[in-house]
Amino acid sequence: MAFPEAATPPELRAQVLALQHQAWPPTGAAASSRTLTHDPALRPRSMLLVEGGRVLAALDILSKEIVHAGWRYRAGGLSTVVTRREARGRGHGRRLVAAARQAMAAEHLDLGLFTCDRPLQGFYEGAGWQLLPGAVLIGGTRWCPFPSDQPGFDKVTMAAFFSAEAQRQQSSFQHSRIELHPGAIDRLW
Ligand SMILES: CC(C)(COP(=O)(O)OP(=O)(O)OC[C@H]1O[C@@H](n2cnc3c(N)ncnc32)[C@H](O)[C@@H]1OP(=O)(O)O)[C@@H](O)C(=O)NCCC(=O)NCCS
Repeated sequence: MAFPEAATPPELRAQVLALQHQAWPPTGAAASSRTLTHDPALRPRSMLLVEGGRVLAALDILSKEIVHAGWRYRAGGLSTVVTRREARGRGHGRRLVAAARQAMAAEHLDLGLFTCDRPLQGFYEGAGWQLLPGAVLIGGTRWCPFPSDQPGFDKVTMAAFFSAEAQRQQSSFQHSRIELHPGAIDRLW
């Protein structure tokens, strides 16, 4: 099922929040009382794998325009990918992440870009995403950047090139620093 994050039916949204809190326990009262996870400016859309009213896995697709090497692109990214703890290891995550890739291509994004911890590279590759070798995403804002290669992080950048323009410029994304700047809420999507 897919909904704009803010239009997710409340009974499903409550389960998604519970799964997110299970994986990433909120820090501070403000974070735990927030009902929406993402910055509305990034047009968050939630995709859920639901069985008998129970959310087994969830993720959010965020999107914004970026400029890279002089070209403008509509970029999307995966965020808050999570499978219910008791349901992990059964292919639910892979299925949802592959469906998100198809959905992003269908909605005419030029490319998908996001980072993940290095051990999860194979998980995303199994769902059709490719490693962008040597690429670093610069998250945060222009004034307060949050790069994916900061000390203590061991992240890789995953990508999918959908449009003909993005496919043509694919090599410009490798071994480069990509100014994503999604803002102060989703500092690195
Ligand atoms: C990462 C996560 C979403 C995977 O969901 P899942 O439903 O268990 O994954 P799947 O069953 O579809 O696994 C598909 C493949 O990825 C591999 N994989 C899954 N989780 C992995 C992990 N944490 N590390 C390394 N490989 C993993 C599986 O072994 C499987 O490979 P196989 O087909 O060769 O056996 C889930 O472990 C989770 O919710 N983790 C906590 C939140 C998190 O870290 N999210 C990612 C943020 S970038």
